[in-house]
Formats: sequence, C-alpha cells, structure tokens
Amino acid sequence: MSSSSTTMAAIWALAIIHLLLLLPLLRSSIVFELHGDVYPTGLFYVTMNIGEPAKPYNLDVDTGSPLTWLECDAPLQSTHKGPHEAYRPTPTNVVPCDDERCVAVHRDLGLAHDCTRNPDQCDYVFGYKDGESSLGVLLADQFSLPTNNENRPNLAFGCGYDQEGGQEAGKKLVEADGVLGIGRGTGDLVSQLKQQGIITDNIFGHCLGVHGGGFLFFGGDRVPSAGVTWVPMAQNVGSHYSPGAATLNLNVQLEYPVSMEPMTTMFDSGSTYTYVHKDTYGRLISAVGVTLEGSSLTKVDDDALAECWEENEPIQFVDDVKSKFKPLELTFGHGANQATMEIPPENYIVVTKTGKVCLGILNGSQIGLDRLNLIGGNTMQNYIMIYDNERARIGWARASCYEMPGLEPLIGSRL
Ligand SMILES: *[C@@H]1O[C@H](CO)[C@@H](O)[C@H](O)[C@H]1NC(C)=O
Repeated sequence: MSSSSTTMAAIWALAIIHLLLLLPLLRSSIVFELHGDVYPTGLFYVTMNIGEPAKPYNLDVDTGSPLTWLECDAPLQSTHKGPHEAYRPTPTNVVPCDDERCVAVHRDLGLAHDCTRNPDQCDYVFGYKDGESSLGVLLADQFSLPTNNENRPNLAFGCGYDQEGGQEAGKKLVEADGVLGIGRGTGDLVSQLKQQGIITDNIFGHCLGVHGGGFLFFGGDRVPSAGVTWVPMAQNVGSHYSPGAATLNLNVQLEYPVSMEPMTTMFDSGSTYTYVHKDTYGRLISAVGVTLEGSSLTKVDDDALAECWEENEPIQFVDDVKSKFKPLELTFGHGANQATMEIPPENYIVVTKTGKVCLGILNGSQIGLDRLNLIGGNTMQNYIMIYDNERARIGWARASCYEMPGLEPLIGSRL
C-alpha cells in the first residue's frame, strides 16, 4: 500500500516536471519588432520574410483592413515604389477561386464570391477609407515567422498589381512594400495562423512607440495579466475593430466636452493620425485654442498639417511643448460599463521638421468619414492595444513599447 502510493507520488512528480518543461513550448505567441514612426515616416511597419528563398518585405501594420497584400511584380505595370524588390508570383502560388481561403477573403472584403469568369484565380478589389484602392489576386506562400517551430506556414495574401489614389496625410508609402491587414475577418493572417494551429487564440496586439519602433504580437500569451482596460468589441462595424460609440473630452476637470454626442469609433493603426467628425473637430480646435491662450505658442501655417503653432525659436521635441497642452479623454459606453482612454498631449500633437507644433487630430469630414471617428496610430502610442477575438473585447494598457515582451516575466506571472 505504502510502496504503491510512493510510486504514485513519484509518477506524479515526474508528470509535473514534464508539464513544467513543456510550458515554454506550449507558448504560441509570435512577437515581431516594429519599425517606423508617426512623424516623419507616417507608418509603423513589420519586416516579414516571405517566399522560397525567403525575401524581406516591409508591411504597414493596419488594423483597419482585413487583407494582407504585397506589391507584386506584374508584367504590364511598374508602379512599385517600396524599398525591396517587388514580390514575383509563380503559377503554383495562385489560390484558385473555389478555395476556402478565397471564399474567406471575398467575405471579409464584402465582395461577391463569383467564380464563373475566372475560376483559376481569386481576384479581389479593395477600397481604403482614404480613397486608395488595390486590385489583385490571392496567392499563398511560405512565411518565416519568429517562432521556435521550424515549419514555415503557408499563408494566403494578396498580390496587388494595381494601386490607385490615396491621399492620406503624412504617410510615406516608399517605406512599405505592402500592407499587413489585420482588421476583423476570417481570412486575415491571424485567423489563418489560428486555423493552422500555430497560435492557440485569435488574439493580437501592438505597441507603437512614441519615439518610433515598438512591437506586434499574434496569440494570447503576451496579454498583460493586469492593468488592462477592456471594452466589448462592437459587432456591427464590418471589418473594423470598434469599441462602439465614444465621446471626446478635453481636460474633464474643466468639463469641456469636445464631442456633444457619442459617435462610432474605430481603432486603426494603419491611419497615421486620428480623424473626428467636423463638429467635434471644430470644437476641438477652439478648445485647444482656449488652453493655449497666454502661452508662448502662436498660430501659424505649416505644410505638414492643418492646425499649427510656433514659438520664437524653432521647437525641437514634443517634450518641450507638451506641458502647454491638456490631455484629452475618449469615453466609451455609459453607466457601469463606462471606460476611458486617456490621450496625453504627445498622442495628439506633432513637432514638424520646421520646428512647429501641429494638431495630429484631423477633420474626418474632409476625407468623407462623416460620423465615423478613426483613432489613428498617433493616439495609440505607448499603449499596448489588444484585439481579443476569442472574447470579443478590445483592451489597452499604458506601456513602454521598447521592451519586447520576453518569456521570463510572463512565465513568472502565470505560475
Ligand atoms: C471640416 O471639413 C468639412 C468638409 O470638408 C468642412 O465643411 C468644414 O468646414 C471643416 N471644418 C473645419 C473646422 O475646418
């Protein structure tokens, strides 16, 4: 009796040791380093190695669109402007129209899934909010991902062969070879990685550094265990990540509501700046004007952005002037479900090359957004933003984006 329970205890001890050894291997998050900044680059991008042999491509991280695509080397067009050689497709990469990945992409983009005209390939066309459009075909190729798994997953992405238009303020597209579209969908890269069992949860997040850089993660293991403000994800906003309707306030102590009524708001890392409805914008300009009265800043024109101020000497850093501005607040939901995201001045002002300070919140009505407020990359700086599709919620926590989330502290917090 006693000898058998000793054996049992030994077996259990061995089993537990095995489990502990396995823990790091079970962790499935994939962490990428980000490059770029709000100004002057205008975008945050990840460098992914794709193809056989693998070649690097810079992808603009965009939570506002559901399709990842690369500029493709097409025989007739030569519009490529990215830093790397354009991706060169081969016939074996082409995803046929009846493939389920094509069905998913057509669904995500709101396109009719019609294979009668071109059954051998999966055509798509996609219009962005800023007026840019991209025409392409769906391909699949191997991605080198920073995991401890040797396998290179085969993932479907767009081969964009005709990009038109696009007048979004401040974006230097010469830095990018394509777009990492991780908006809400069923055919986006995060969904594909979950379907292939490479990550366990359809959860991802980003941290955009206020001085540039930062990180991006796919999978749930990197979600901080505490200090995250969560709001339910609105379900009726297409491929967008939206916490629902929000109101914008400037320095609530003075009770200065900038937006009079809540408006649908979405988080869009692919937008350099934040855009609000024209009424909110007008009130914001006058509210900021009031807070700057009697300060050393005076109104001036600048080519970079619409609303700018200067001092006697050129301004060098945001840190030199941010104390003259007041924090903004975005409030979601109401009553007991209310959640607030603070927007410190550095998340809505920009210091330009000519030494002026400008407002990084723009008039959405001017680009046809109407009653949709778009929270751009600048406003999400130094926040870990978490998009949790498993529990249909969006979360954020203040963070320094320079420390890539490592294994040790996370394991420590789990045990
Ligand atoms: C915002 O844009 C709309 C549409 O172009 C325009 O009518 C309005 O005057 C603009 N508001 C401000 C404050 O510039």
